[in-house]
Amino acid sequence: MQDDQLSGKKIILGVTGGIAAYKACWLTRELIKRGAEVKVVMTPSALQFVQPLTFSSLTKNDVIVNIFPDSQENGSSMKTWHIDLALWADLMIIAPCTVNTIAKIAVGFLDNALLTVVSSLRCPLLISPAADMDIYDNKITQRNFQTLEEMGYLFVKAEKGELASGLEGEGRLADINKIADAAELILTGYKRDLLNKKILVSAGPTYEDIDPVRFIGNRSSGKMGYNIAKAAFLRGAEVTLITGPVHESIYPEIKVIKVRSTAEMKKAIHKEIINSDILIMAAAVADYKPAEVSIRKMKKEDKLNQIKLYPTEDILSSLKTSGKKIIGFALETDNEKENALKKLKSKNLDMIVLNSLNDEQSGFEYNTNKITVIHKNGEQIDFPLESKFQAANKIISEILKSNG
Ligand code: CTP
Repeated sequence: MQDDQLSGKKIILGVTGGIAAYKACWLTRELIKRGAEVKVVMTPSALQFVQPLTFSSLTKNDVIVNIFPDSQENGSSMKTWHIDLALWADLMIIAPCTVNTIAKIAVGFLDNALLTVVSSLRCPLLISPAADMDIYDNKITQRNFQTLEEMGYLFVKAEKGELASGLEGEGRLADINKIADAAELILTGYKRDLLNKKILVSAGPTYEDIDPVRFIGNRSSGKMGYNIAKAAFLRGAEVTLITGPVHESIYPEIKVIKVRSTAEMKKAIHKEIINSDILIMAAAVADYKPAEVSIRKMKKEDKLNQIKLYPTEDILSSLKTSGKKIIGFALETDNEKENALKKLKSKNLDMIVLNSLNDEQSGFEYNTNKITVIHKNGEQIDFPLESKFQAANKIISEILKSNG
């Protein structure tokens, strides 16, 4: 269920001639895995790095390289292929996009098949550039990025890291999952509506140590909070993620603060909320902690079954903020809506997101969730079972709605 978000969507993937072209094969797989139909157009230089056969095998579609493909004898069956292809698509992605192709798009060159398609598009174009760091950082390159952004083209910018040259810097093709997430966001109708917003998200469990070996924790995987952080970033927000111990990955542009205990999470939230507009408290915070933490491993005969527990502090209730949106979560098994409403009021929240553990494929560890959003004014909206990324986007849209 979580993989079919792009079902029925038609994507043209443009591949240009950079070493990251090999990653376009994985991107093709990912888009198809999410349900999209993909057709690939390559520049002649891209052939130096990957063969069309790879893409035609993956997509089950013909791959276009030349404006006048050899296979179409004297153009007898070509028709206006570039227009037909451009009109077929719901989205075109160019990944990797060399700075040469970016420059050509910026000035309107149409001297290869990929560029003729770009110029004929009626759907959005998502550009994911890649280059070595000095080429990427070059003033002319940066000016061309800016020109295209101002014209409304969408970007998933390159990331920092080790480059093919061995240098370390900005220019690596963005992670293919991030490119696919950005494509999904566009194709499911979301816009960059969080520009200039600072969003603080908490995710995962907190652990309360008993001794160096044991702790009190819970089964939270962090997936919901991590997906909220990703969706908020892709919608243009500056995002800080405060996370308990989990095994999820996050985009490098998101500031991550790792914590373990409830006290550490509380301290981080109190510090970071000062500079945030919205707090989304998706963490599953431990409710109790041992009265004391043993510095040595406790033995069975140390009366492990009689550990004295104290309640942890309630982080949301401890906040004394004004002018900020505060969103809580509630995970319930009984009297779900009634309990969620109680939490909304007692913790003075603007909105609460209810997950029910009674729904199949919903809650801890799943990639899907079925949520109900309850606003402060009592409005309740039930959403269907969907991927946590889609649920995250619904939550964000509801927060914006409550903004007025
Ligand atoms: N929460 C918090 N501090 C705590 C416990 C929970 O800030 N010590 C937050 C959670 O992050 C969540 C909301 O409060 O956004 C509700 O958490 P939940 O665990 O469902 O509720 P509790 O208040 O802990 O109540 P209970 O466990 O009894 O249902």
